[in-house]
Amino acid sequence: MRRPLRPRVAAALDTTVALGAVVVLGAAVAGIAAAQSRPGDAPAGVTDPQRAWQNWTLNCQGCHRPDGAGSAGTAPSLAGTVSKFLTVPGGREYLGRVPGVATSALPSADLAELMNWMFWRFDKEHLGRLRTQPLRLEASQMRSDLLKKADEPATP
Ligand code: HEC
Repeated sequence: MRRPLRPRVAAALDTTVALGAVVVLGAAVAGIAAAQSRPGDAPAGVTDPQRAWQNWTLNCQGCHRPDGAGSAGTAPSLAGTVSKFLTVPGGREYLGRVPGVATSALPSADLAELMNWMFWRFDKEHLGRLRTQPLRLEASQMRSDLLKKADEPATP
């Protein structure tokens, strides 16, 4: 995946909605490419795993713990579950809008990379499941339903 140019990223940061969209795009790419990657490969959608890990350390692990196990009363565990959200309707929206993600101070490109790294680091098992369930006849119906919803006014 080519990284978007910085100025465009800055423009996308104008609204939380756009930020969410970038994250969700990152997630989609990870989900699709993960099934193709061999063990030991850099995770899909992650240009620099070291940077992703550092961003995790500085921005997320205080609540979610270094190993993603979370802690009672502070943040849920991501280990073994976080990629499941990619496989259910509404899951991507949840991941993009959950406060720790949507209100993060990270630039969108770094946040998308961090999310892709996070799916791979904490829940490889459920990555790639989308590819085992390709749409068939229902693809065009789903497409038009989604575009219709996208054009509806946002719910408050
Ligand atoms: C202040 C504590 C805190 C920080 C910092 C934080 N989170 Fe969270 N996170 C939470 C809580 C609490 C939830 C559960 C949803 C809620 O109640 O807001 C959550 C939920 C999530 C979820 C949804 C998964 C699930 O099982 O619900 C993801 C993904 C996530 N966080 C990623 C991140 C990432 C990535 C960062 C860093 C950029 C981050 N979080 C920073 C507290 C935090």
